[in-house]
Amino acid sequence: MSDLKPSQPVRILGIESSCDETAAAVVENGRRLLSEVVSTQIARHAEFGGVVPELASRLHLESIAPVVGLALDKAGLDADGIDAVAVTHGPGLVGALLVGVGFAKAFAYRHGKPLVAVHHLAGHLAANYVEHPDLKPPFLALIVSGAHTHLVDVQMDRTYRVLGRTRDDAAGEAFDKVARAMGLGYPGGQKLDALAAEGEPAFAMPETSFSDNYDFSFSGLKTAAVNRLHQARQKGETLHLPDLAASVQNAIVGALVGHTELAIREKGYDTLVVAGGVAANSGLRRELNALAARRGIRVLMPRLSWCTDNAVMIAAAAYDAYLKGHTADLSLNAHAVLTM
Ligand code: KG4
Ligand code: ZN
Repeated sequence: MSDLKPSQPVRILGIESSCDETAAAVVENGRRLLSEVVSTQIARHAEFGGVVPELASRLHLESIAPVVGLALDKAGLDADGIDAVAVTHGPGLVGALLVGVGFAKAFAYRHGKPLVAVHHLAGHLAANYVEHPDLKPPFLALIVSGAHTHLVDVQMDRTYRVLGRTRDDAAGEAFDKVARAMGLGYPGGQKLDALAAEGEPAFAMPETSFSDNYDFSFSGLKTAAVNRLHQARQKGETLHLPDLAASVQNAIVGALVGHTELAIREKGYDTLVVAGGVAANSGLRRELNALAARRGIRVLMPRLSWCTDNAVMIAAAAYDAYLKGHTADLSLNAHAVLTM
């Protein structure tokens, strides 16, 4: 992260509440994990087949204080041992974000600590700084989550230039919606991934990327797969679901790897960093490792638990901003939409 070197270790408390995980973590100097806690709401949303925003906010409210308290305990620190508090302020579910933002502001005010606002996607990316402490920009980043699909040029000065993004649904959303139509339940990405391993990509799928730029489009694929399932149901036909899962996964992975490879070829990166919930996908990890071998580049990914939402990534992402004095005041708000 930053080349500025503090004389004392800097310990940042990170807080994440943008969707259905309430998480807190303490990270030292943006690279060293001291503690982490994740309280997931998945079981509570599963009965509704997806995240219910109002329920998410209420569950965050119940969990936030104990989760932060436990993260401090596990790090062996009290509030005085923390140098700054960092929080996700967007993008995400605004009611869910507000719980984390409100708690972080109260913590900062009560204990006289600086407050750092973190963009959720910059957070996902920063999980890699803890996983691979020698990582330094410049590099190419592929950030694939439930709501975003971004191909990003991370420049030497750590600024971001988005090369390509989805024009409609995110890759994770396509995984989730198809999985739901297959009756796999929520969250579907991981379940579709497991099912795909038993099938072959036998079904033809529509285009998932544009040929003259780095953008993606996954809504046509999602609709095609869902329609195929509905038609089969109407006709009383039995579809081989593992093959459909493999076809959907193959199309999504193909688009992500294709555009990533194009950017590497055209712009000459030697390092690719992958982040976000979909980075846990086994097919994507396998194909990106194959790409790295083919192109002779380094591909870095976080461990599976740091692909999905966590607070380690938020505490890590805040380190650079903290050293540069880029702190927020108590007027900090939550934003459902926030550009990177
Ligand atoms: O980054 P994340 O935890 O939340 C957002 O910021 O959106 O990503 C969650 C997304 C969900 O769409 C989930 O289905 C997907 O990541 N996901 C996967 C896998 N594990 C999680 N998608 C495909 N294969 C997986 N193994
Ligand atoms: Zn996320």
